[in-house]
Amino acid sequence: MGRVFVSRRVPGRAVELLREAGHAVDVWPGELPPDADALRERLREAEGALTMVTDPVGADLLAAAARLRVVANMAVGYDNIDAAAAAVAGVWATNTPGVLHETTADLAFALLLAAARRVAESDRDARAGGWRTWSPTAWLGPDPFGATLGIVGLGEIGRAVARRARGFDMTVLAATRTPRPDVERELGVERVALPELLARAGFVSLHVPFGPDTEGLIGAAEFAAMREDAILVNTARGGVVDQEALVAALRAGAIGGAALDVTVPEPLPADHALFSFPNVIVTPHIGSASHATRARMAEMAARNVVAALAGRTPPNPVNRPPAPRGGA
Ligand code: DGY
Repeated sequence: MGRVFVSRRVPGRAVELLREAGHAVDVWPGELPPDADALRERLREAEGALTMVTDPVGADLLAAAARLRVVANMAVGYDNIDAAAAAVAGVWATNTPGVLHETTADLAFALLLAAARRVAESDRDARAGGWRTWSPTAWLGPDPFGATLGIVGLGEIGRAVARRARGFDMTVLAATRTPRPDVERELGVERVALPELLARAGFVSLHVPFGPDTEGLIGAAEFAAMREDAILVNTARGGVVDQEALVAALRAGAIGGAALDVTVPEPLPADHALFSFPNVIVTPHIGSASHATRARMAEMAARNVVAALAGRTPPNPVNRPPAPRGGA
């Protein structure tokens, strides 16, 4: 039986599952993540780690964690983990697919609606005494109903967003590397290249993983190609958008607004330029933040740890160590 480090308090039965499997569980007690030194220190002793998107697990840290056999990320994205280096070190890396896409799609849609209908902005105005009368001209925005939505990345979350869009009678365009004609047909989605999507969509919602291929995917050229009234929704990763180009586009009035659940850095400093635009919404990376979904994610991560430490292939690997430490 091993020692498992859980890098934050987590909801649901995850810690019980680990203990029931006979592991000694060390839960980081802080509201804030362990810093690099603390993480290194805790992982030095651990056979298993249940990590968050806020925990960078790079090659140097893996090298210092000689007993570590599995890093189970409580997230579907795992760009915080060097999964290739982990494989070389014989360490499984795992994620949590299939349990958070509906919840994240709900947030993408909430942001889309909130940005279009100026929900956050008008709430702020109302609290600040700006609601002096019913106004025929104030707080107007575009109609999501019947609009054109461009989905960039048609994985689990992108597809869940497309399903929601049907209820709003939207024309749905998708830019995706992997053609899935059956899925596109079923969802009533038109597959187009990114430039066409940007030229046509009133709403652009990002659902690609972060990596070398997608870093800065939406930059100055893409903002220039977007409609002037278009609203960008990002629930993927902050690095998918070139934030300086976004700020420039907002300053120039080149797009209609943005609703961002993810930024670079996270958290976004309170004096960041993005906070100065009334037509920008920023939420603190809450895409998967429903009670049930966060519990499912934590429990799934725990099951990955349990399997790997029992010498089995974990259910949700994102790498394939040729020689897993401790066998498997
Ligand atoms: C993920 O799962 O990748 C999210 O960003 C965290 O919920």
